[in-house]
Amino acid sequence: MRRKKLLMGNWKMNHTIAEAAAFCEDVKRDNLLKLARSKNVLLGVAPSYLSLQSVKKHSHGLIVASQDAHYADHGAFTSSVSIPMLKEININWSIIGHSEKRTYDGETSFTCNRKIKSLLAEGFHVVYCVGETAKEYDEGITKDIIKEQILTGLMNVSKDDISHIVIAYEPVWSIGTGKNASEEIAEDICAYIRYLISELFGKVASQKILILYGGSVKPENIHNYMACKDVDGALVGGASLKSQSFKALLENI
Ligand code: PGA
Repeated sequence: MRRKKLLMGNWKMNHTIAEAAAFCEDVKRDNLLKLARSKNVLLGVAPSYLSLQSVKKHSHGLIVASQDAHYADHGAFTSSVSIPMLKEININWSIIGHSEKRTYDGETSFTCNRKIKSLLAEGFHVVYCVGETAKEYDEGITKDIIKEQILTGLMNVSKDDISHIVIAYEPVWSIGTGKNASEEIAEDICAYIRYLISELFGKVASQKILILYGGSVKPENIHNYMACKDVDGALVGGASLKSQSFKALLENI
């Protein structure tokens, strides 16, 4: 089955509202959405909460995702943002389980699961991030870690809802380090994730689901990943911040 590709920029804690607006202007000026369509690529960015609304307004067809979302509709959760708040500004994509949330905020696959179920109930698309640390990689337990993250994170997700999930494989040791995983590693783990999805949700779902690689993806190396059978796109941090680099990523897919 021929799947679309997805290129998503994860801006993390970068870009003020004004900088994000300038990025959107560049996307429009450079006709990136047209280029993306011609390449069968879905194009998206995940700005900070503060610039979500203005980026969405000026997105010109870009997918605009939040970098997280709380599982509760409202309540005493200082600093969090709820799904109804996101819906109010027409956001319907969210990243969940990024390794920086897991590392700095103690996010577990259980919390991810609660968030994913709440998002799916509201019709969101979710980019669920999984990946092993350097220590786990060295110990040779990458697949055990991925399996736990997938089984727990997607617990009680229905066969209908799995079509709203994208998985991003991001080895923690490759994020922001310049040490990108080899294509062999990326393909091996993405193929393993597809196998797990087929065991859990059936063959058809496993052939349809988009599985991304993330971790030090650059315009110079993105093409190699896209040539892998089971890699359907990339989640990109650093190299997605400048519009010229984002454009080069797309051109090199
Ligand atoms: P990086 O980040 O491209 O800067 O390594 C990737 C990510 O965290 O999604």
